[in-house]
Amino acid sequence: MRQDTLRKPAHAGLFPSRVLFSPVGAELSARFAELTGLKNHAWETMLAGDAPQRFFRGMKAGRGVFLKLIPSTHLEQHIFANRIAAWSASSGAPVLVMLPGYPVSFDAVHALCAYEWFNGEYFAVGSETQLMALADGLGVMHRSLASLPDIQLIKDNNSAFIQKMRETHAALASGDARACIEPAKVREVIRSFSLDDFDGLSAPSPLHGDVNPGNVLFSENGLKILDFEDSHFYFFPPELELSFVLERFALIHGNGTTGVLDAFVAKYADSGGSVSKLSTKQLIHCLRLLRIIALCRLQSAKIDDEREWSKMLLLWDWISLCESKKQWFPLYDSSRCT
Ligand SMILES: Nc1ncnc2c1ncn2[C@@H]1O[C@H](COP(=O)(O)OP(=O)(O)OP(=O)(O)O)[C@@H](O)[C@H]1O
Ligand SMILES: [Mg+2]
Repeated sequence: MRQDTLRKPAHAGLFPSRVLFSPVGAELSARFAELTGLKNHAWETMLAGDAPQRFFRGMKAGRGVFLKLIPSTHLEQHIFANRIAAWSASSGAPVLVMLPGYPVSFDAVHALCAYEWFNGEYFAVGSETQLMALADGLGVMHRSLASLPDIQLIKDNNSAFIQKMRETHAALASGDARACIEPAKVREVIRSFSLDDFDGLSAPSPLHGDVNPGNVLFSENGLKILDFEDSHFYFFPPELELSFVLERFALIHGNGTTGVLDAFVAKYADSGGSVSKLSTKQLIHCLRLLRIIALCRLQSAKIDDEREWSKMLLLWDWISLCESKKQWFPLYDSSRCT
């Protein structure tokens, strides 16, 4: 285990950073008013870590509105993602859907999406109540997604995605492609695991694709799952999403006793999820598969943000450690990792 990687990086997908707001300038405020038709508005900007300002909060008739700027090149993808979310919401899943009439064009290179403001907080680490609420929401969402009308389009997108990943996997394994950090280590990891090994898992089904702690908000009245950006191609065995959620909301915090895992899966199945048993072997297998897919995705999209690469290698080492010690160690508790 490399001790130097056991620091706590600011990875939104692991530990979302606090949301900060500050007023936007008059020009931007006027542009929002023009686009949304709002009067007497009070716009503020969200600064998430080092991300550019692209999230905003406004008011309409006393109700909060969440605004998000997206690149126009992603417009089709967002419209499709919203169609998937809307289908799921119409079947009772706790998901956020865009307000009618959006997205609208913002400038030459951006479009503006708007959602009702959801007054929630990120996951309170260790909360069993929130974990069970998430298991319930995930089950309802998966059941609704299984009957999506657009399923063929998602299957086609998935085939194209898998094909691209296979090519990247081969290139990284052979050394034709070189990872931006620790290329030898990445090659070793990639070589040790195939992309196609779905043996023993359920049939593929449409999934959300990125249910990380930055994409779920909890309130006293329930939770909301947001950000369906990956759902347009995410067609995999549901165990993959189940494992990802368990990892991000429980396992990396050291919360991985058999009781917790079994209760989560039982609640998920009870609420309509199609998996009622998840063995430790399957869980570990899925987490490895997710890392391999993620590494290939980073390479294929030419993302050279070293933090993203090191996050995947760190998680890979952590899985191996937990597997060998037969215990889910907290990801950043290095003192216990020797
Ligand atoms: N409707 C909403 N009401 C309140 N807050 C919201 C709403 N939608 C999103 N947020 C907040 O904005 C953050 C980013 O939103 P979202 O995940 O949709 O954007 P993103 O483009 O995926 O950003 P990232 O790349 O950081 O994941 C969420 O983590 C959440 O804190
Ligand atoms: Mg997000």
